[in-house]
Amino acid sequence: MTSSPDRPETRSAQREQTPEQIAEQQTAAKRNLWMHFTRMSSYTNSDVPVIVRGSGQYVYDQHGKRYLDGLAGLFVSQIGHGRKEVAEAAARQASELAYFPLWSYANPRAIELAERLADLAPGDLNRVFFTTSGSEAVESAWKLAKQYFKITGQYGRYKVLSREIAYHGTSMGALAITGLPAIKEPFEPLPPGGVRVPNTNFYRAPAFVADDLTAFGIWAADEIERAILREGPESVAAVFLEPVQNSGGCFPPPPGYFRRVREICDRHGVLLVSDEVICAFGRLGYYFGSERYGYQPDVITFAKGVTSGYSPMGGMVVSDRLMEPFTEDTATFLHGVTFAGHPVSSAVALANLDVFEKEDLLGNVRANEAGFRATLEKLGDLPIVGDVRGDGYFYGIELVKDKATRETFTDDESERLLRGFLSHALFDAGLICRADDRGDPVIQLSPPLTCTQEHFDEIEQILRSVLTQAWSRL
Ligand SMILES: Cc1ncc(COP(=O)(O)O)c(C=O)c1O
Repeated sequence: MTSSPDRPETRSAQREQTPEQIAEQQTAAKRNLWMHFTRMSSYTNSDVPVIVRGSGQYVYDQHGKRYLDGLAGLFVSQIGHGRKEVAEAAARQASELAYFPLWSYANPRAIELAERLADLAPGDLNRVFFTTSGSEAVESAWKLAKQYFKITGQYGRYKVLSREIAYHGTSMGALAITGLPAIKEPFEPLPPGGVRVPNTNFYRAPAFVADDLTAFGIWAADEIERAILREGPESVAAVFLEPVQNSGGCFPPPPGYFRRVREICDRHGVLLVSDEVICAFGRLGYYFGSERYGYQPDVITFAKGVTSGYSPMGGMVVSDRLMEPFTEDTATFLHGVTFAGHPVSSAVALANLDVFEKEDLLGNVRANEAGFRATLEKLGDLPIVGDVRGDGYFYGIELVKDKATRETFTDDESERLLRGFLSHALFDAGLICRADDRGDPVIQLSPPLTCTQEHFDEIEQILRSVLTQAWSRL
């Protein structure tokens, strides 16, 4: 049989591992590898899924089987997989200067990237502090807020407000900001100062605002003000919010929400940190999610899509105003990590942004997002689909037991549905997405920004078939 070298099936077959290699790899994976947020016992009697390579919107496992990467890895692979030009940028940089610290030194790629991000970021967000992950970015933003207020004489401000069920990372400080009790409890006591406010889940809005999205948004924003007043404004440093809240299943902000939050922060001298670890770099059709919803943060935290995962990187873009006291006399932000502004990661980020520009990926998201929404909304005819919500290329589908009453599943049912069936069934059907019950049960989608209607159709078909089976097993 003759076939084109570009055909994915052909290329996967060429690189397939032998059964012996696969068996050895499985033994080593089970004996030596500790996977994150993973019940390792679930692999006692089944194979660890091993993803060996990627191409475009697809990845391939050790058997050569193809999957549509409906989650961009973990909200990361914006430009898709297998981009030679990005890999080559990394190789070039590694042979020129693989590493040098940002502690007292700069390197050319970190400088170029900081300048480029400052150009892209809204308003006076002109100063870039690099990290190596999203948790470190969030941790850094809290530390900056605390030190900024100390250095400017507001010694009591250290508390942080964030929303219920929101995920802001796992390091101790970031975990104190995270709003998911179950992943915090084993590590308590956490650093003091984390305060929760309601999220913007309109599907589960309190009855008195359940029919009016705008009123709901104003109520949710005003809850932030009430929390600030309750805690004492002189003790509150910052509010951390995602443009679209990921955890819980993609809650977009209601109209007017962020305008109100900005006013509240200004009124009480509290910093607004836009945690855009997921929502930056095109996920919502803009370089930064705050642009989409028209608000001006004091700090933006980022990670993931800045390199599309070709190398790890995170950071925060900070307003001139916050940087200003650190430019005087002996003032120093007493914080840093070894690999910040890593030359290879910086070169990768620059090459990643080149792809964004060359292929107008923001334009692709804006042109196709309505099609993505409409395709997912077709699933609304299934009895198990309660709500389809999101923006850009970032959607959550909430699953319910009773559509009319919006009754959700019990913990046991949710366990059986998500872990016992859906996660495996979707993967077996060739779709990588997330079946999550940290809030109410949802399926989340966040595909590469290169996706078009054919990929949305593939997603819809797989979801339709697997969700139909799930319903019949209930
Ligand atoms: C909004 C948000 N903040 C912070 C983080 C933590 O990022 P990382 O896993 O890179 O530490 C995440 C991770 O998904 C996130 O979604």
